[in-house]
Amino acid sequence: MQRRSLLGAALALALSATAALAAAPTPADPIVIKFSHVVANDTPKGKAAMFFKKLAEERTKGLVKIEVYPNSQLYKDKEELEALQLGAVQMLAPSLAKFGPLGVKEFEVFDLPFIFDNYDELHKVTQGPIGAALLKKLDSKGILGLAYWDNGFKQFSANKPLKTPADFRGLKMRIQSSKVLDAQMRALGSLPQQMAFSEVYQGLQTGVVDGAENPPSNFYTQKMHEVQKYLTLSDHGYLGYAVIVNKRFWDGLPPDLRQQLEFSLKEATQFANRIAKSENEGDIENVKKSGKTQIVTLSPAERAALKKALVPVHAQMADRIGNDLIQSIYKETGFNPAN
Ligand code: LMR
Repeated sequence: MQRRSLLGAALALALSATAALAAAPTPADPIVIKFSHVVANDTPKGKAAMFFKKLAEERTKGLVKIEVYPNSQLYKDKEELEALQLGAVQMLAPSLAKFGPLGVKEFEVFDLPFIFDNYDELHKVTQGPIGAALLKKLDSKGILGLAYWDNGFKQFSANKPLKTPADFRGLKMRIQSSKVLDAQMRALGSLPQQMAFSEVYQGLQTGVVDGAENPPSNFYTQKMHEVQKYLTLSDHGYLGYAVIVNKRFWDGLPPDLRQQLEFSLKEATQFANRIAKSENEGDIENVKKSGKTQIVTLSPAERAALKKALVPVHAQMADRIGNDLIQSIYKETGFNPAN
């Protein structure tokens, strides 16, 4: 008896869910897109997400509501990808270093140390055919990759000045979930510790880890300057995002609304990629102003020594990422591992 009523309730729920899907949205009963991310609102990704929300809600005349959940409010790094696949959220912008555990290891090519010298080189990849082909690889995971959003170049931090490879020896360094970043830290003689972004501040504060690598925008907005005495302007690697959606959800949207969302995303992408550099530069200044973290600059010889220690990671990771992919990026950007 009880079982029958449970089944009945489940059936009623399923029927009402189907009816809700089929019913045309209205401003009083809009289609809701939950957009979850792990950083602060006051970062390139946070600002672009809010800009996308504004454009999308205007363009769809309130028929679509974008709920942005920053700062890991809903999910941490790994959970948010699972939630997207399950349909508990519809939109994310995880860093490119976070697709390995999903089985799309090729995205770790963006983590190779020193592979991009500047945003122009990077854009040749993210805005060109290599970037598009990489996004396509997400289809088989039930995910649609829609765009790349920039953050910026990463800087090393610790409670001691990090200038030479020897300075890293024995330090526990927080990394994202990327095997390339694991190899990078090992190449410097440090001990990589994978940790969710939301746990980094506390990890640094309590000494679970000694140091980290972040673009300045993440370093400053997570208040890491309160718990790290030195920030080395190393620009040794890139951190950026793929904007992704649950494929089934996206394909099921009314085509006219989907098109307005795509226009909005295109504009939000241009916005993100326009502000990222200056936001990061501004946050270096904010760190300086805080007076809590000393900025360490590297001489050309010191940076060259770091690069020399780290470029062998490219060859070491070629089997995992795909040598052809690495070579195609070298060709696009002019990177020469011998220099
Ligand atoms: C990190 O975990 O360090 C970054 O991926 C966080 C982010 O989304 O920028």
